Amino acid sequence: MLNMLHFSSLYTLNLPLKKYQMDDALFYDRMQFAFTITFHYLFPQLTMGLSLIIIYFKGKFLKTQLDKYNDAAHFWMKIFAINFAMGVVTGIPMEFQFGTNWAKFSELTGGIIGQTLAMEGMFSFFLESSFLGLFLFGEKLLGHKLHFLTGFLVFLGSWASGYLIIATHSWMQYPVGYEILENGKFVLTNFSALFSNPWFLPSYLHNQAASMVTSSFVVAGIGAFYVLNKKHLEFGKLFLKTGVVFGLISSILVAVPTGDLVAKNVAKYQPVSFAAMEGLFDTEEGAEIVLIGQPNIKEKRLDNKIAVPNILSFLTYNNWNAEVKGLNEFDESLYPTNIPGLYYAYHIMVGLGTVFIGVLLIASFLLYYKKLYVKKWILWSILFLIPFPYIANITGWYTAELGRQPWLVYNLLKVSEGASPTVSAGNTLFTLLGFIGLYLLLGMLFLILVGKIIYKGPNTLKA
Ligand code: HEM
Repeated sequence: MLNMLHFSSLYTLNLPLKKYQMDDALFYDRMQFAFTITFHYLFPQLTMGLSLIIIYFKGKFLKTQLDKYNDAAHFWMKIFAINFAMGVVTGIPMEFQFGTNWAKFSELTGGIIGQTLAMEGMFSFFLESSFLGLFLFGEKLLGHKLHFLTGFLVFLGSWASGYLIIATHSWMQYPVGYEILENGKFVLTNFSALFSNPWFLPSYLHNQAASMVTSSFVVAGIGAFYVLNKKHLEFGKLFLKTGVVFGLISSILVAVPTGDLVAKNVAKYQPVSFAAMEGLFDTEEGAEIVLIGQPNIKEKRLDNKIAVPNILSFLTYNNWNAEVKGLNEFDESLYPTNIPGLYYAYHIMVGLGTVFIGVLLIASFLLYYKKLYVKKWILWSILFLIPFPYIANITGWYTAELGRQPWLVYNLLKVSEGASPTVSAGNTLFTLLGFIGLYLLLGMLFLILVGKIIYKGPNTLKA
């Protein structure tokens, strides 16, 4: 998200003071948003997927009447609630940043993004938060069937939030249904176009599957922790089994069809970003897919490359010999501003996705042959992997965001045109440092609270 090269070059070029100050402020605006949104997205990516796993446990309880499923639902509800609170606390400053640091963007595009963002607050957030209260505290009052229903509504609210946020983001990637007035403001001419936007559905499904990957690894990882420690064994096995099955399904879905579809969208609507993310400099027929290599922007080539011929053409156009356009085909003014960042973010995401499928396939195989709970190496692997879906999700978002640079609204509004003109670099740096300090404290508090719940374990059954 940040263009370090561009930033450092400001100091070596003799830029006029005003331009220099504006670029400086823009850098901190971007850095602040990058930091706050990266930290924020650590939480919703777990809550969205976890809400589905919780109602799965509650549904299993309704079907079997076995207490362990209800206890499992209760255990994960507590972790859900803390994550949800962290998501809200870290989400609110971002809404303010639209006004403080991105006032021009809000002023120009508010007629469009205001619709979906307001709907997110009014409908999905309220749906999720009001029913979360009932889900957490209303079981005795409501009975199990209505309790399940409140859990389902929490799930619906959290997925609807993602739906509306990604509809907004998709409009920025591929603007549809708008008109630009003489004063430069965007107005919405077709509301439904926001949701039939070809960018939207693949991106939403990819994101939701990715969120399922995170929650599955967290559930399976805590299960592995209990089994390795021989504590809360019955729950450990239940979490492990559930996490591995949900994880395998979602890891496959994240690659095919959703990952494939989002990549095809980038190739179709942002071909220059596609070339950069794939590390393709020359236009090729039968283009190779790069597994490893370092982009050398100066020489316009990939160093130390390991690539497999024809695969990229096939994945992109279903034709082994199709032509895929390389970066050299485009004018440099159209290049994404941070090609190495984009390339590495994309390759880390896809590389991790491949590791997840591999590990979960082995785990499912061992589960099927009843060996999963006794093979320590796989339990350690699953436990060790807990942070990595978070990294894949974050690098996934970096891929989308760096791919769109230098545009805020693709091909229509540049990032530099969306920042607030009157906020100084010093102001933003000051608040950024404040955010870093505060979020560090919040993060520690979060880990202590969740750690305590995990340590205590699902408490009704004896270990
Ligand atoms: C395995 C193959 C995968 C492929 C081919 C793939 C492809 C892509 C592409 C092309 C984008 C950029 C879309 C854009 O510019 O808007 C993207 C974004 C993203 N990816 Fe992946 N991805 C894969 C795996 C993963 C994994 C394993 C995760 C996380 C567990 C993940 C999470 C994300 C997220 C959160 C985004 C941003 C939101 C979105 O555009 O949907 N991806 N992915």
